[in-house]
Amino acid sequence: MSSVNDIRSAYLGFYQKNGHEIVASSSLVPQNDPTLMFTNAGMVQFKDYFTGRATAPWPRATTSQKCVRAGGKHNDLDNVGYTARHHTFFEMLGNFSFGDYFKERAIELAWTLVTREFGLAKDKLLVTVYHEDDEAFDLWKKIAGLPDERIIRIATSDNFWQMGDTGPCGPCSEIFFDHGEGIAGGPPGSPDEDGDRFIEIWNLVFMQFEQIAPGNRLPLPKPSIDTGMGLERIAAVLQGVHDNYDIDLFKALIRASVEATGVPAEGAQRASHRIIADHLRASSFLIADGVLPSNEGRGYVLRRIMRRAMRHAHILGAADPLLWRLVPALVREMGQAYPELVRAEALITETMRLEEIRFRRTLARGLVLLDEATSGFVSGATLDGETAFRLYDTYGFPLDLTQDALRARGIGVDTDAFQTAMERQKTEARASWAGSGDTAAETIWLTLRDRLGPTEFLGYSSEASEGKVLALVRDGAEIGTAEAGERVQIIVNQTPFYGESGGQVGDAGTIETETGAKIRVEDTQKRGDGLFVHNGIVESGSVNVGDSARLLVDHGRRAAIRSHHSATHLLHAALRKVLGEHVAQKGSLVAPDRLRFDFSHPKPIDAAELAAVEDIANEVVLQDGAVSTRLMERDEAIAAGAMALFGEKYGDEVRVVSMGERDGKPYSVELCGGTHVGRTGEIGLVTIVGEGAVASGVRRVEALTGKAARDHLELQDKRLKEVAQALKVRPDEAVERVTVLVEERRRLERELADARRKLALGGGGQASGDGVRDVGDIRYLGRVVEGIAPKDLKGLVDEARKSVGSGVVAFVGVAEDGKAALVVGVSEDLVGRFSAVDLVRIGAEALGGKGGGGRPDMAQAGGPEGARAGEALGAIEARLVG
Ligand code: ALA
Repeated sequence: MSSVNDIRSAYLGFYQKNGHEIVASSSLVPQNDPTLMFTNAGMVQFKDYFTGRATAPWPRATTSQKCVRAGGKHNDLDNVGYTARHHTFFEMLGNFSFGDYFKERAIELAWTLVTREFGLAKDKLLVTVYHEDDEAFDLWKKIAGLPDERIIRIATSDNFWQMGDTGPCGPCSEIFFDHGEGIAGGPPGSPDEDGDRFIEIWNLVFMQFEQIAPGNRLPLPKPSIDTGMGLERIAAVLQGVHDNYDIDLFKALIRASVEATGVPAEGAQRASHRIIADHLRASSFLIADGVLPSNEGRGYVLRRIMRRAMRHAHILGAADPLLWRLVPALVREMGQAYPELVRAEALITETMRLEEIRFRRTLARGLVLLDEATSGFVSGATLDGETAFRLYDTYGFPLDLTQDALRARGIGVDTDAFQTAMERQKTEARASWAGSGDTAAETIWLTLRDRLGPTEFLGYSSEASEGKVLALVRDGAEIGTAEAGERVQIIVNQTPFYGESGGQVGDAGTIETETGAKIRVEDTQKRGDGLFVHNGIVESGSVNVGDSARLLVDHGRRAAIRSHHSATHLLHAALRKVLGEHVAQKGSLVAPDRLRFDFSHPKPIDAAELAAVEDIANEVVLQDGAVSTRLMERDEAIAAGAMALFGEKYGDEVRVVSMGERDGKPYSVELCGGTHVGRTGEIGLVTIVGEGAVASGVRRVEALTGKAARDHLELQDKRLKEVAQALKVRPDEAVERVTVLVEERRRLERELADARRKLALGGGGQASGDGVRDVGDIRYLGRVVEGIAPKDLKGLVDEARKSVGSGVVAFVGVAEDGKAALVVGVSEDLVGRFSAVDLVRIGAEALGGKGGGGRPDMAQAGGPEGARAGEALGAIEARLVG
């Protein structure tokens, strides 16, 4: 028997042998289609290669593609568990020719694979072709040698495959396997075709057209091939079972569920185990691709799938959360083929456990309500919409879960009334928003949020995606079109752009519409409770509401932001280690070129402490450990020691970001909604460039990482080299040299001051005016001095006065800028005749100054006209005479 893993490898191997590139499955969240909720076929990732919008790097490819059909157009959720072949998640094997081979080779390869590689008996197989496709009919005859009655012409859309309302399409040909007479059903095209006997195992699409719009179909540049084979179906055929749930992979998952619950997969319980096994796959793969349970969009589909499984775990009597315990079994079965499952195992497990704990809190009470509301109902009865809505609103029962719960009893639900109740609640919520005092500017965002729903954020796992332009806003008003040169705010249904929050700045990048408009996005903000608003400028073309667009985050900028954000966490933890547990975050800024972290701490941080903080942070960088993100219940996360920002609003569910290890324990664990590096090594380097006070008791450190840090250090290095060069020493001798120079300079300054003082007191070349002169009966020393600081002038005058004995001393110090300071001293015995204050005022007047002050024996003044110093001294002298 071939296992599912063997079959997958055999398929890919066969096509590889035949010149096809094995391409990895793309994400379940389509990266290139704005309207598709989940990837639902192998060709989705290659769409643009078929239409010619992009060139395929290889002419032929083969994949095993993860697909989800739940929610949106293809919704198999309700049937899963009750039929042999419905799944929410399945794998599609496919081979693709991008304008290379066409019908003949496609049929040849397919026929060889099923009959030779897989060894299926020819008489068990039959095929269908589109009724007009004579060419395909003849090829099957020629290549497979099938008789005419086993090549069935089908006129319906069953044999014309379309990706959606638009996109590549073409006639197709399907291969059917006959499970034998024991099973009821007729061949395709017969009245009994819906029976289970003839099962389609492979669809070969002859891609020839592109549906541009309804009624408008153009030929593709080159005919191409897209095929899809359900792995679970072919496995059932090859393993000789009729039911997909009996293949080895599902048996293993169901076994795990049986072991965990102790309930055999028989009778009424069989469906529950199948639902659990199927939904375990869908949920785990969706979480691994970045979808998390929520109440909107993809997250809500995930939540519905999870809760449906969880109710069946409850039906099986599981006393504790069950699904998370089955994750290891799934990883064992599928982890090798899909390494993303292994990488995300912790996130998947934690998300499952959390969701089940939460759901269980209300599940039992909700079921009691449901029982009461439907007691006495007979098959064919309908549950009212109000009750269904209450179950949804209060107990977290998605509508399909309520329907599933009533299904066995043949009871329906009034879905119209459910929708009405839902609408009413929205209207009430709107009214309460309007009354909450938000500014008018915000009203537009709230209105848009209400009409458009929240923007789905894809940026944790990708930096590029497709999106649909839902609204354009300019100057606070909605517009339909924005032209080149205009500033505009753009809202799309889903975006990889991070909206500024939690200190992290918003993303920048480009948006390009299908019509060729290009918008440069400068910033992204969150508005109106869940809208992401892209602030940009139209660089060329014009953008319209309704356009499909490609959104591309500026990768380098985002990478630098990620690095600074993760470094903020490292610094936070390091500060707590070095300074103490009182350190708590008070604010932060995370930008591409720097980070800022504010925290509580009562005093400046000294150099040694800062160095220790930097050392610890860099140690963790060098560990290069993986940064893990888990989704946890808020209280649980905080109880487990995750650092939360006091006063910050967190939802019930929080992202918990952990990085590094120290002393055998996780180094940093924080609640955080930001984007982070994958491994700490990507940070490269953390360097602190500043420390200071922000407010009383709040300090701030500023730091750089990665390239910004390197640029900074390079500049420092350059400066050091320049300093060394100027000093004419090697850089490592610079400090010593500077220390010596500073010391020398101090000594020289002292010596110079001394010399100047002596000069000033002793007369000589630099001081004009003679020595002491007799002016009448008064000894007068008037002198202009240079190079003496005004503050030293008084001391100098005092000294001179002492040496003169009885007399008057007047010194004018002229500074380099030409301003003058004047000090006059009068000896004690003369104070009765002359006041220093009067004399200094007379001098000041000559210097163009006013006033002056001091005591009768010593006064000072100043003036702007130092050149008139001689006049000032003369004026004082004249007063002594008079
Ligand atoms: N794209 C084709 C399908 O999904 C093969 O059936």
